[in-house]
Amino acid sequence: MLTAVAVSGYRSLRDVVVPLHGLDVVTGANGSGKSSLYRSLRLLAGCGRGDVIGTLAREGGLQSALWAGPATLGGARERGHAVQGTRRKGPISLQLGFASDDFGYLVDLGLPQQASGADAGSPSAFLRDPEIKREVVWSGPVMRPGSVLVRRRWGVVETRSAVGSDDEWGGGWGGEEDDESSEWESDPVEAPGARIGSRAAYRDPGPAAGSAPRPADRARRARPGWTELTRSLRPWESMLTELADPERAPELLRVRRMIRGWRFYDSFRADSGAPARTPQVGTRTPVLADDGRDLAAALQTIREQGGRELDRAVADAFDGAILDVTVDGGRFDVALHQPGMLRPLSGAELSDGTLRYLLLVAALLTPDPPPLMVLNEPETSLHPELLAPLARLIRAAAERSQVMVVSHSRSLIDELGVADPDDDDEIPVGLGSPARGITLVKDLGETFVQGQGLLTTPAWSWGTRR
Ligand SMILES: Nc1ncnc2c1ncn2[C@@H]1O[C@H](COP(=O)(O)OP(=O)(O)O)[C@@H](O)[C@H]1O
Ligand SMILES: [Mg+2]
Repeated sequence: MLTAVAVSGYRSLRDVVVPLHGLDVVTGANGSGKSSLYRSLRLLAGCGRGDVIGTLAREGGLQSALWAGPATLGGARERGHAVQGTRRKGPISLQLGFASDDFGYLVDLGLPQQASGADAGSPSAFLRDPEIKREVVWSGPVMRPGSVLVRRRWGVVETRSAVGSDDEWGGGWGGEEDDESSEWESDPVEAPGARIGSRAAYRDPGPAAGSAPRPADRARRARPGWTELTRSLRPWESMLTELADPERAPELLRVRRMIRGWRFYDSFRADSGAPARTPQVGTRTPVLADDGRDLAAALQTIREQGGRELDRAVADAFDGAILDVTVDGGRFDVALHQPGMLRPLSGAELSDGTLRYLLLVAALLTPDPPPLMVLNEPETSLHPELLAPLARLIRAAAERSQVMVVSHSRSLIDELGVADPDDDDEIPVGLGSPARGITLVKDLGETFVQGQGLLTTPAWSWGTRR
């Protein structure tokens, strides 16, 4: 389970650490930074999917995403002065990270260095593309020098050498562990970096898997305690996607798997051309697509998993209505039988609110619960009467997945039964725990978590690029 998400330098999130508990409901006034928090998690997910630079580019590029205020606001805040620009001391940097029960991860994005010397003659058209400057994976809640497992600075990725046997390293691997990987875990000489595979991305691919390390590979372990995995990771590549494999860096693979499982649902389209309204060729669909195009197939998959949740969720919301999934020439569509109607309504005929509710039902009743599900303003265009059934669905989903709901709706928050923050210490955390409220507030353009003080901010360290 994620225990915190940290963001620095992204839009109004100049420097925040948001604690997470199991079912967290993020709220706040318009412009307080809710969507930015949602988008930061999406960017983090982009690292696990190999698409963080593309995700950032699609939202306008690094320059527009970077915190637009001064590097420090302390003086203006204390003296009540107008905010004035100050000379930036540190490098331009957008940092994102999370802590979880077992691993933490952070990524530090920046602008490319100005081309100079040999490169200056052939300027790249992608000079404005952000670059990944640094990535770190650590064990435990906070990054400390002793807890770092894998670190990346520019193109160089290093993993802590396997010294002796250490359960943190190889433990919990489950079925995919092969003989070779258990061998290096117990053999300090044959470190993971000694067996770098032959990928084109590496300048020096190293010996083939399974062979003894060459002297050159031993030499590369210059920094005591660290083994180089590569020197040539390209600036747009994340170590999570490029280097994660069970032999060289099992912890990268675990972090990537976790991140890849995260599911995001944000403002489903419900206009007349919406993908969810069009009958689609259906196959078994345990995970609703993020644009909802496979709604009917996803609902049918839920139904065929057994259980009555789907029928209950529909009847609960629409006054005893019954949902059918029709198949015509292989194309799946929904048919909603509502009391008082002479015929069922198809996907194309449903109201926006009804369609959105069905989409949320399909997302939340998934037969394949993700480790984390994030919903951005699920209340959008729902009839107020649907908020209570929606809250019941969210609470049920939170028994099986960690859930974060970003919401502007007081009624939805009330229906979710957000626990009183004053009893914070006594409220259990984890799956199925009571909903917690996180209120974002903005002060001098900067987002803060309301009520958060030194003692209640989760411990977090960004480290430095040097
Ligand atoms: N680059 C930036 N630097 C600082 N603030 C920004 C930047 N880009 C957008 N903002 C501000 O961030 C605020 C948060 O936006 P958003 O996350 O969409 O809020 P919400 O979803 O809570 O309504 C907005 O008020 C916007 O003015
Ligand atoms: Mg918003």
